Amino acid sequence: MMNVAVSDEARPKTGVRAPAPPALISMKQVCKGYGSGESRVEVLENINLNLRQGEFLAVVGFSGSGKSTLTKMLAGLETPDSGTLEMEGQPIIGPSQERGIVFQNYSLLPWLTVRGNISLSVDRVFQHWSKADRRAHVEKFIEMVGLTHAVHRRPHELSGGMRQRVSLARTLAMKPKVLLLDEPLSALDALTRSVLQEEILKIWEEERQTCLLITNDVDEAILLADRIVPLNAGPNASLGPAFAVQLDRPRNKTALNDSPQFKGLRNAVTNYLVAVRQKSRDEQQMASEQPPIQLPDLKPRSMRLPSKAILNAPI
Ligand SMILES: Nc1ncnc2c1ncn2[C@@H]1O[C@H](COP(=O)(O)OP(=O)(O)OP(=O)(O)O)[C@@H](O)[C@H]1O
Ligand SMILES: [Mg+2]
Repeated sequence: MMNVAVSDEARPKTGVRAPAPPALISMKQVCKGYGSGESRVEVLENINLNLRQGEFLAVVGFSGSGKSTLTKMLAGLETPDSGTLEMEGQPIIGPSQERGIVFQNYSLLPWLTVRGNISLSVDRVFQHWSKADRRAHVEKFIEMVGLTHAVHRRPHELSGGMRQRVSLARTLAMKPKVLLLDEPLSALDALTRSVLQEEILKIWEEERQTCLLITNDVDEAILLADRIVPLNAGPNASLGPAFAVQLDRPRNKTALNDSPQFKGLRNAVTNYLVAVRQKSRDEQQMASEQPPIQLPDLKPRSMRLPSKAILNAPI
């Protein structure tokens, strides 16, 4: 594996590197599972993660490893079973408009238009603003995601990419301190996904908001993030070592495709993920294998053939 992994612990305490910005969100020894008794699933184990002020952090992992569970805890929609979860030193005990989340499945209100969906959140968060200011704010974000021509359309009249744009604009418009993006592009076709990646990159480079992106796409993580943290395969998934993405910004997807640094990082992260998944599969297989059946050590009393009557007996 290339020498690109830099865990929080391994980061040099002295030297030329500027000190890391303070953690805005910190998770310490967080464990989370669902259910009880025989149906209990242990999803996450001993998660230690610092999301630093102004950084773009990507968490990559396979489906079902617990990425959404992690995001929901950060959003305050799920509570950890043990460990501590804090934002600016205060425990996260419920949802807050300081942490905006974009879900995998858009979650727009179907009876509201593009403008209506965004206005609803803006009007609630910025109640103290004048109506004109709120309206201008909404229009700014509609324009930012390129939907000015579709302001009057309802979600069923939009493509998947357009719906995800509305969802993104709605969250960005609330100006949260932290942006939590839970696989926001996973339901989109490759081309639309690529266009939206560039848009997120552009918006983030302008706003520099603290951002956590959940993704299963290593290229996407490298294009967007400052650091990539792999989530190992579950159950009992833990976080792997962080990979620093030291590619210059602004980044350009086409140029990155030819960059040896990009290719090296992609190999390192992908190899890490494939190796941990294989290890987890081997462990699960070993755990599910039955111990060999012990046969009784029997010896026949006589080696003579059984009588004819016994041989012809129905089975
Ligand atoms: N509310 C719940 N109750 C019971 N089990 C749950 C619940 N939510 C998630 N799980 C289980 O926890 C595990 C992790 O789920 P999670 O949605 O966090 O994974 P994920 O990494 O986001 O997957 P994907 O990439 O498919 O979105 C899965 O086994 C899932 O079945
Ligand atoms: Mg998920």
